[in-house]
Amino acid sequence: MIKVSPSVLACDLSRLLEEVKSIESAGADMVHLDVMDGMFVTNISFGLPVISSLRKHVDIFFDVHLMIEKPERYVERFANAGADLITFHYEATEDPRTTLELIRKAGKKAGISVKPHTPIEVVYPLLNMCDLVLIMTVEPGYGGQAFIPEMLEKISALKAEIKSRGVAVDIQVDGGINAETAKLVKAAGADNLVAGSYVFKEENRRDAIDSLR
Ligand code: DX5
Ligand code: ZN
Repeated sequence: MIKVSPSVLACDLSRLLEEVKSIESAGADMVHLDVMDGMFVTNISFGLPVISSLRKHVDIFFDVHLMIEKPERYVERFANAGADLITFHYEATEDPRTTLELIRKAGKKAGISVKPHTPIEVVYPLLNMCDLVLIMTVEPGYGGQAFIPEMLEKISALKAEIKSRGVAVDIQVDGGINAETAKLVKAAGADNLVAGSYVFKEENRRDAIDSLR
């Protein structure tokens, strides 16, 4: 079953709790929380205090996407703030192996992400240490951008590698996902779809989430 992880970057952030509850009751599998530091990406979003405040009021699985430099510095704090899955960028750290270990040691699911220009092969040696690989299908930093179709080849290459190694790793995609692009990424092998603007611009969130599955 395809999982859907709506990104709150596109919601009305002044009503964050209500927005998260709306997708929880609409059947979202998890909520995608985009943390940006103004360094790894040019944008700044939100961080630890927002996540720990939300955690007190909702039970939904927290899918935390760290777009920050040297994520290893913050693994423990995001784990304590209530993250269930922590995904960081391969490009943001000199030591992805240790970062993955830190996440697992904190008892959380570990994800690693690659930007559009990073070859997918860089994650192959790490597949036995992670639960999820996030393939960015736009340049990270902003919602509402157009899906980059060349990323489909990365998805299918990774799917084949995961199969041949027999490991249990999910492929998540993030950026420009809507009902049309969802069909393409699912056909290429994606298991988990992040969608921001597509889900939050819809009045009926259940329909939007169902249409992605
Ligand atoms: C972009 C973020 C995405 C973003 C996706 O850097 O990682 O999660 O919210 O937004 P849409 O679905 O609008 O492309
Ligand atoms: Zn994201």
